[in-house]
Amino acid sequence: MSVDFSTDPTAQGFFAPMRFEADIEDCETQGEIPPELNGSFYRTCLDRRYPPRYADDTPYNADGAVDMFRIANGNVDFRTRYLRTARYTAERAAHRALFGRYRNRLTSDPSVAQLSHNTGNTTPLLFNGRLLCLKEDSPPMAVDPNTLETLCEWDFDGQMTARTFTAHPKLDPRTGELIAFSYEARGDATYDIAVFIFDAQGKLKRQWWFKSPVLSMMHDMAITDRHIIIPTTGMVTSRERLDAGLIHWTYDSSVPCHVAILPRDGSGEVRWFQGTPDQAMLLHTTNARTEGDRVILDAPVASANFHPYFPNADGSGFDVAGVSPNIRRWTFDLSSTRTDWDEEILFDGIRATSMVRIDDRFLGQPFRYSYILAVDPKMPFDRARGGNLSVRVANAWWRFDHANGTIDRAYVGSTHGLAEPQFVPRHRDAPEGDGWVIGVANDFSQMRSELVIVDAQQMQRGPVARVKLPFRLHTQVHGWWVAG
Ligand SMILES: [Fe+2]
Repeated sequence: MSVDFSTDPTAQGFFAPMRFEADIEDCETQGEIPPELNGSFYRTCLDRRYPPRYADDTPYNADGAVDMFRIANGNVDFRTRYLRTARYTAERAAHRALFGRYRNRLTSDPSVAQLSHNTGNTTPLLFNGRLLCLKEDSPPMAVDPNTLETLCEWDFDGQMTARTFTAHPKLDPRTGELIAFSYEARGDATYDIAVFIFDAQGKLKRQWWFKSPVLSMMHDMAITDRHIIIPTTGMVTSRERLDAGLIHWTYDSSVPCHVAILPRDGSGEVRWFQGTPDQAMLLHTTNARTEGDRVILDAPVASANFHPYFPNADGSGFDVAGVSPNIRRWTFDLSSTRTDWDEEILFDGIRATSMVRIDDRFLGQPFRYSYILAVDPKMPFDRARGGNLSVRVANAWWRFDHANGTIDRAYVGSTHGLAEPQFVPRHRDAPEGDGWVIGVANDFSQMRSELVIVDAQQMQRGPVARVKLPFRLHTQVHGWWVAG
């Protein structure tokens, strides 16, 4: 049998699977790596080893790979490895894809019916000595943070009994607790949600189990010092849909966002709030805080389907304009019996992406800055030299100042696309915003990728350093910085 990606439009040119592992010591660098920048930047990426069994499958169903840029004393080493999931190992032995459409076991080869479909391809996060590579349809994959060797599918020493685990748990910077949730927690098409709090040593401190009013994708969450906030999206599924052999999700514009809020200390019940259909698509949260009886959540929110590979339930085509979120502030009044919330649009007129991060030391607390990936029409993109890409190129990082409403823009080149920004503080006690924004840029004209480092307080100056790899990199989903 042959490995042939030529008919897969998502696997061409710069986006062809990389399908190799690499170590590079002393990477080529232009500019000066700030001497205070000391740590490891991890990325989880999509990289199919074999062509998908179904042409309409989503790229999010690709094998997971994890990259590490290790930065010390102005020097950078790079390493990338595939995650040795059960799925990867079985398909490698068979020399072809065995797993079918995204999150639909009925479309897989019968030989893997009992195997985990975990790819671990969404978010890396260091907790209690393990690098957890997360995919929301499965438990975490535990990886050695130094060698990137895959260790096992990790259930927190048997304490985490759900079948799934979010790709966006929150590490509370004040307590060291890991706060997470699972949806479809008792298996495919179940309405069960589980919420877990682990202490800094990894011991399960509290858990909740309850039902969701909708069978919906729940991709991200938020925490405050007192509350846990979990939104649904307009992406829905059903047992019938899976039995019909379809891809897991369809976007139903009539299903509004529902938001679960529960007190972290276990002192009260979960409360559900219900939005309007134009409030459906909250993929990632920016940050949240509790003020008195009010929970305040900032997030990019779109009004339509974010993903062309998850079809619209009403049969309509994909609306490119609908994927661009604006930044909204949702305020939930816990002192009233209201089941809706107040909405304010921040940074009026701005359309970005949902790839937003903050200075993680301020997670769950009042904060000033967020950093977001953007398609910036003010910044030129050279389509001829950039490869005439059919996709919209996210070509800028913006820093939002939530205190005064201003935006600072970083741009790294006319043939470059960027991945999610990662904020790194100058040192542990540096004031909020004092540090760098780092991340990977793809130079489409050179077919090479680079790690770019931007001073967070001088975004407009562009990179102070570029760490250039001699090849292109696979598509990143999310990244994670570990200091020291
Ligand atoms: Fe995400």
